[in-house]
Amino acid sequence: MTILGIETSCDETSIAIIEGANDFVKVNSNILATSLALHAKTGGIIPEQAAREQIKYILPTLKEAIDDYVKRNNEKLPVHNNYGLELLKHIDAIAVTYGPGLIGSLLVGVETAKTLAYILNKPIIPVNHMVGHIYANWILNGNITSIPIIHYPLIALVVSGGHTDLLLMKKHGDFQLLGGTRDDAAGEAFDKIGRMLGLSYPAGPEIERLAKKGDPNRFHFPRPLLHEKTYEFSFSGLKTAVLREITKLTNNNNISTIPSSLSTQIVCDLARCTQDAIIDVLIKKTLRAANQFNVQSILLSGGVSANQTLRDEFNIKSEKFKIEIFAPHKTFCTDNAAMIASAAYFNFKPEPLNSITADPELYFE
Ligand code: KG4
Ligand code: ZN
Repeated sequence: MTILGIETSCDETSIAIIEGANDFVKVNSNILATSLALHAKTGGIIPEQAAREQIKYILPTLKEAIDDYVKRNNEKLPVHNNYGLELLKHIDAIAVTYGPGLIGSLLVGVETAKTLAYILNKPIIPVNHMVGHIYANWILNGNITSIPIIHYPLIALVVSGGHTDLLLMKKHGDFQLLGGTRDDAAGEAFDKIGRMLGLSYPAGPEIERLAKKGDPNRFHFPRPLLHEKTYEFSFSGLKTAVLREITKLTNNNNISTIPSSLSTQIVCDLARCTQDAIIDVLIKKTLRAANQFNVQSILLSGGVSANQTLRDEFNIKSEKFKIEIFAPHKTFCTDNAAMIASAAYFNFKPEPLNSITADPELYFE
């Protein structure tokens, strides 16, 4: 089964064509246009600007996705290919992110998907972006010879810029939310603290890099809700603690001048202790859930799961419980359309065109 996926929930515009076969999906094309450089200048995403960029990018991205498919599969396009509509006649369905996300951005993807579904007369499957992140774990990567076995029930941890969610998954499409974040998401904490340190957006990868040179004992930052029974998370206190520490260090209350007055080593130490605090909370809570529900598999997903230190620590700490940790290839941790198409393949539930609307506040039922 071939599915065209469309993802535009935040600042990315992504279109993919995947082939589902039994228990995994193969990516035949995956194109991503990003307005990140624009947002790096402003230190974050300006929703209106993101949507305007996506309107510009969406059709060229579709064309590129089709060209990529043709190249990878040695297919021949009709001469007047009209964005490759001839080729798209052979797909089985269209999958699109309908929430959560920024309303203007979601609308670009949803309306494009509906138009294509109408013209091509194809079924359309609306996908929850967070569910999409989890299904990045079923994407086959490169030349894998042995296919990993994911056991149910399992615990899924979604850690992205907008969400930190812990879920119990009993089978495809069957999710029970155990806890989410009460305030900032893990990725948001990386980004906001990175901003205080003078790093550009998104700061997660840079904090990971700087943390390698940092002293883990230089600061001790709080691990909110770690010892409480709840599976909820809270990271805004961490941000406040880091800010308090750097104003103390620099004797300066003017946040805009702080980064330049911090030494490189202190920035590395702050990065290390921030990352350690976030990873500590994520791992301990996830393993507690895994033990409580007696699962053998944990699936990591979302942009923060691209963090290699997080992955390594998860593997080390889960070993004694004989729990296997899965994480998508790094390309598929951050937002992409292949994961949306993957979720649609395993949860093939087409909806009538007129019932599909963008839902910025969508969560797990
Ligand atoms: O999943 P994603 O692409 O977008 C959302 O759905 O929010 O996640 C983006 C987030 C950003 O906050 C970014 O800083 C974080 O993922 N991120 C990382 C790393 N790579 C991306 N955080 C920590 N370490 C990384 N290597
Ligand atoms: Zn995402």
